[in-house]
Order: sequence, then C-alpha cells, then structure tokens
Amino acid sequence: MAKLAIIGGSGFGQINELNITQQKKIQTPFGEPSAPLAFGEFGGQEIIFLTRHGEGHTIPPHQINYRANIWALKDAGIKHIVGMGAVGGIRQDMAPGCLAIPDQIIDYTWGRAHTFFEQQQRKVVHVDFTDPYCEKLRTALIEAGQLAGVELIPSGTYGATQGPRLETAMEINRMERDGSDLVGMTGMPEAALARELELSYAACAVVANWGAGRGDGPITWEAIEACLDEGMDKAKAVLLALADNLK
Ligand code: HPA
Repeated sequence: MAKLAIIGGSGFGQINELNITQQKKIQTPFGEPSAPLAFGEFGGQEIIFLTRHGEGHTIPPHQINYRANIWALKDAGIKHIVGMGAVGGIRQDMAPGCLAIPDQIIDYTWGRAHTFFEQQQRKVVHVDFTDPYCEKLRTALIEAGQLAGVELIPSGTYGATQGPRLETAMEINRMERDGSDLVGMTGMPEAALARELELSYAACAVVANWGAGRGDGPITWEAIEACLDEGMDKAKAVLLALADNLK
C-alpha cells in the first residue's frame, strides 16, 4: 500500500516519471478532492499523486477543497504527504530558483474551510501546531536533497496568503517584519488539516519570483512559469531520492 503522497502545485500538475497504475475518483464527507487520486510507481515505491489545482489547473488557491484532498489521502492509507508549492522569496537568500523546506508557518488566509473539527464533536479539539511540519519528514527531505545533489534551504517561515492576487509591496514588507521568509497561497490550511488527521506532512517550496516590490518591475506569471520549469526538475530529483529512502 502506498505510504507517500505528493500534492503537486503550480508548475507540478503531473509527474511524467510516475507510472500510473490506477486513477481513483473519490468522494469524501467534505466533497470531492481536486482531482482523481493517481496511484503509481515512482522511485521504486508506490505513491499517490494529487494535483492541487485540479486537472488543467483550474482551481484557484482559495477555492481548493483542502479538506477533501487531505481526507481522501488519509482514507487511501497514506502516512506521509509532501506538499509541493511555488512561492515568492522574501528573505535575501530565498532567490528565484531556490528550493526550501520550511519549518514554520504564518497564516494570513481567511474564509477557507480550515478544520475537520467543527460539527457534532463531543469535545472541542485543539491540535498542537507549535511545529507545523513533521520534523522527521523534513529531515528525510533534506537528506534526499543531499543524496540527489540538490541544494535545499533547510528552514524558513512560510507566509500563507489568501490570493489569488499577488501581494502589494507593503504587504511583503509587513510579512518580512512578521518573520515570513517565503510567500505562497496554498500552504494553509493544508498543513493544519494534515495535522488534524495525524498525518506526517512537510512542504517543499520552489521559489519562482521575488516577493512583490523586491524584483525588477511587476511579477508576471510567464516569468514565474519559466522559473518553475527548472525548479520542478530539481524538486523531482529530491522526491525520487525521498521515495527511494522511505521504502
Ligand atoms: N506570492 C504568493 N504566492 C506565490 C508567489 C508570490 O509572490 N509566487 C508564487 N506563488
């Protein structure tokens, strides 16, 4: 049974190296996931791949059914999830093209269905989220980077914004003062929902652009995509080493 799932974000809508053996359309108590779960073999291990923005990249960050995605993966027997995502760089060393394994989160999102614990609970549940990512899986990713010869920035704070618009220059300045090193739109509530279902979850962030006001001129999606193509190849090498290591 597959233990590892990869949730692919922008620039990572599919994995060509994945030998898909089965595609399963799943219903959950929270609705349908972004796409059918793709079961396949990757790096000699069975994994599940789920494209976060749907087939054809049609679901914007604030409309993703994060609960259905995480529930479906738990239901499929998954233990570990790596959430891939494109981000903007805020900290000086988080330049476009870099890969980072964040260790903290600041959540700026709002209005998203962000918990499984809202109805008919006998008791209110407050999960611990001091360390929002699974430290074991983060370490495994960092080791996989070393094995694959891919440089990874081993920590950083992921600032999760609502989107779908990009930020203003002042919002990025404020995020920096808060302590955010990276900015992305999909890191939350995904990480928190995985914690609620006691899944091991870590993120692999691919820096696609400088945060607003930090680069030359406006941010274009074309420039982001060009950068992602290269970053995602590196990310795939890391994931292959990880899959091999988790065997
Ligand atoms: N901001 C938010 N999300 C992003 C960015 C950004 O600059 N780049 C890629 N995803």
